Amino acid sequence: MTETDTTAHVDWRHWQATWDRQQEWYLPDREERFTVMLDAVEALVGPEPKVLDLACGTGSVSDRLLRRFPKATATGVDLDPALLTIARGYFAADSRVEFVRADLRDPRWRDALPHREYDAVLTSTALHWLPEDDLRTLYGQIADVVRDGGILLNADHMPDESTPRINEAVNAFQQARREREKAAGAQDWAEWWAAAAADPVLAEPTAERFRIFGNPAEGDHADDQAKPAAWHAEALRAAGFAEARTVWASPTDAMVLALK
Ligand SMILES: C[S@@+](CC[C@H](N)C(=O)[O-])C[C@H]1O[C@@H](n2cnc3c(N)ncnc32)[C@H](O)[C@@H]1O
Repeated sequence: MTETDTTAHVDWRHWQATWDRQQEWYLPDREERFTVMLDAVEALVGPEPKVLDLACGTGSVSDRLLRRFPKATATGVDLDPALLTIARGYFAADSRVEFVRADLRDPRWRDALPHREYDAVLTSTALHWLPEDDLRTLYGQIADVVRDGGILLNADHMPDESTPRINEAVNAFQQARREREKAAGAQDWAEWWAAAAADPVLAEPTAERFRIFGNPAEGDHADDQAKPAAWHAEALRAAGFAEARTVWASPTDAMVLALK
């Protein structure tokens, strides 16, 4: 496992900010969904939650959480050594958050966690990377780490295939927006990763990341296995949550809240 020296002089804010901009190019309502996510956290488990930021990437969810709730704590878990390097560098001076590396497809991934239970598990734009069977298994494992009365919030691509004409129009609209923003200099997924690979500090963990997931320039994950919000709600109830429902939706994405 590659661990990079996060004390080296690197502008971690730059990498955090460019990650956010790159994600927003795909998800222009990304901050809106974070706000709705944290509203649900406050409503269901209060303003001092112990949070598991699942597939945390650079820790964007933890960042919004700790800004809004100064007494919250977070554990970020991800498999990607490059994104974890940025997360650890960005949060180096913040004792409220820690990061662990684990593969969510590994049945023992919970062994890496510093706590047995959490008030809330939050995850954004990540679980569609997992095949259906792996996600059902993961939902059962998440139910095990959420305390009674605790919650899971999953914001992700959750398409509705029953509205093909609406979907086509929305996709064309978003494609045109992305092309305009690209012409104005927006960085896409593959370009952001190429910049990380060219950075002296990030080059090594990025090379390892490419070995694990593949090179983003050649397609490193499939978006076509994303499931509708109703599928998630049903899978979460089957996994042991008492209630599950959509709390936010756009034409392409949604956020499902499950209460144990
Ligand atoms: C698009 S990023 C989203 C990151 C972050 N949640 C955000 O919203 O900025 C998807 C994340 O899922 C992580 N991921 C994908 N498959 C994973 C797995 N099997 N185990 C752990 N993390 C995984 C990736 O490494 C990546 O950080």
